[in-house]
Amino acid sequence: MTSTSPTIVLSRATIEHVEPIMDLVNGLAAQGVMLPRSPASIVEKLRDFVVAYVDGEFAGCGALAVIWTDIAEIRSIAVDPKFQKFGIGRDIALRLIDDAEELGIARVMAFTYVLGFFEKLGFEVVEHSSLPHKVFTDCLNCPKFHKCDEIAVVKVLKPSEPTPGLSNVALPTPGQPFRIG
Ligand SMILES: CC(C)(COP(=O)(O)OP(=O)(O)OC[C@H]1O[C@@H](n2cnc3c(N)ncnc32)[C@H](O)[C@@H]1OP(=O)(O)O)[C@@H](O)C(=O)NCCC(=O)NCCS
Repeated sequence: MTSTSPTIVLSRATIEHVEPIMDLVNGLAAQGVMLPRSPASIVEKLRDFVVAYVDGEFAGCGALAVIWTDIAEIRSIAVDPKFQKFGIGRDIALRLIDDAEELGIARVMAFTYVLGFFEKLGFEVVEHSSLPHKVFTDCLNCPKFHKCDEIAVVKVLKPSEPTPGLSNVALPTPGQPFRIG
């Protein structure tokens, strides 16, 4: 790619993006820098994804998963190595953060190995235990549960919202009516 700033076009993912997303994410996952995704998990969560194009070429992707009423997670953010360091990852992340704001969500989190990238976007490191809804869902099923080496980061979008810890969070109880707040 030339040294001039590329024209980055972001859009919502469609079915035609399943394969390029899978190839990019799983190619990088094979290098140990992120978690892999199955084709089914991409198809089922396709509406979570945005994709980035540069001059008509697929350049990157990222997804926003709503975890709970007050928190969403940036997942599978990836930029093709030949397009990295041109601001594409930042543009994707900012778009996902905008999506969270539009949904009225108070905090955005990520589990990551690239702390510097998220710090540039205003994320701060937190304890894994401060994210109980993540820990009690995905983490419990993760083979790395007892030796997780990913860093948990959070960006607060609505500072007035409480940040629930393990002790005061109201997780849903089977058989009980569901209530927000
Ligand atoms: C992490 C990743 C998405 C960043 O995408 P990118 O397009 O290269 O990043 P950008 O060019 O938008 O960088 C934005 C800022 O973050 C910084 N940054 C990017 N990657 C970084 C890294 N690995 N470590 C520290 N800082 C980083 C950039 O220097 C830039 O800072 P600046 O504003 O001072 O210039 C990309 O490197 C990637 O796909 N990595 C492999 C997959 C991965 O690790 N995904 C994250 C899973 S949580």
